[in-house]
Amino acid sequence: METKLKKVLHLKDAVAVGLGAIIGAGIFVVTGVAAGVAGTAFLVGLLIAGLVASFNALSSAQLAAVYPQSGGTYEYGYRLLNPALGFSAGWMFLLSKLSAAGIVAIGFGSYFHQLVPFFSPVVYSVAAIVLLTLANLAGIQKAGLVNTLIVLITLLSLLYFVFGGIGSVESRNFTPFAPFGIRGIAESAAILFFAFTGYARIATLAEEVVEPKKTIPRAVIITILTAIILYAAVSFIAVGTIGSGAMAHSQSPLQLASDSMRAPAISLVTTLGASTAMLGVLLSQILGISRMLLAMGRHRDLPAFFERIHRKTSVPHTGILFTAAVILLITLLGNFEFVVRAATFTILLYYSITNLSALKQPGEQQLYGKIIPILGLAGCLVMSVSLPLNVILSGIVLLAAGFVVRYLVKKLAPTS
Ligand code: ALA
Repeated sequence: METKLKKVLHLKDAVAVGLGAIIGAGIFVVTGVAAGVAGTAFLVGLLIAGLVASFNALSSAQLAAVYPQSGGTYEYGYRLLNPALGFSAGWMFLLSKLSAAGIVAIGFGSYFHQLVPFFSPVVYSVAAIVLLTLANLAGIQKAGLVNTLIVLITLLSLLYFVFGGIGSVESRNFTPFAPFGIRGIAESAAILFFAFTGYARIATLAEEVVEPKKTIPRAVIITILTAIILYAAVSFIAVGTIGSGAMAHSQSPLQLASDSMRAPAISLVTTLGASTAMLGVLLSQILGISRMLLAMGRHRDLPAFFERIHRKTSVPHTGILFTAAVILLITLLGNFEFVVRAATFTILLYYSITNLSALKQPGEQQLYGKIIPILGLAGCLVMSVSLPLNVILSGIVLLAAGFVVRYLVKKLAPTS
């Protein structure tokens, strides 16, 4: 049985994987929710979220430079902290990425339905899951190529939104600036953190990266900077065009803003960009989740069959098929709000473990100084406590469920 993955991803592929994982429902949908809680000042919340994400990203980059194994924070936690914290990170990653994949699969269905109203949205969601699973099964090179194409379309559509929308910005749309004060800004930062998640996806795929120690830190930094600049520009144009009140009342704030712009076919292009953005996140979630299952199978935290790698295509095919089946189930069942809300807390715990691991690295491995993981950890903790209590409690229950699964796996198949 094969247990090694192939190294084929170069810097440009690594950056494309990062951007594919980041740009999705966050910018196309969640900016409206953030505008509702902070008014125009959600722009400040966006920058705060980007800053905390950058600290976390630097911690991930520092860790990946020393431990370029599949599994990212799961592996770092295992090696630098203890197996229980490592497992917690892996389990939290699986929960939050599986539910996020469900959200973007459903999101894709409804956006694509606006472009081609031929079938019902769910048909498009299922088709996207099937096609992207096939792309994943075909090998990391082919999946990378599909991802790069998807990311290019998304980027071009967002650039068109920015440049096509400049003429529609009006200064009166920025006032009042912060109707809900500092509290509103803090809440919008916590909400918008979701929009930046994905910056460390390439670390989860570390074994497939060429010269990972050099490539991963560079890719992570380029990815997060691009996302911050792009998100800030897009949000500025959107709020300047229709104001935060209108954004807050829309499920698709960027579409609404583009409807008020004069550039040719801009609404159509924005809808296309939203569709490809969701596809990019879905593709990269399948990539990331299957590699996490592989890493957890290797440590026997999950069944050993997840560590199988296909002889011809060098992909963890069992993990990919399992991932697709779960995403399909979530998409078809539809109502998974409870899991989604808990996922926000779970991902903050995941990044807290990243920062704790970075803090534990010996001095010569600290690329950016201890202050970065300290600020990252503080940011994650402040944001997690700003979440409602029931979200925190449900996150803890889901974590406990993970430990039950781990106990059963170890008890039922201790050596397989
Ligand atoms: N950052 C990703 C998104 O916004 C998860 O959809």
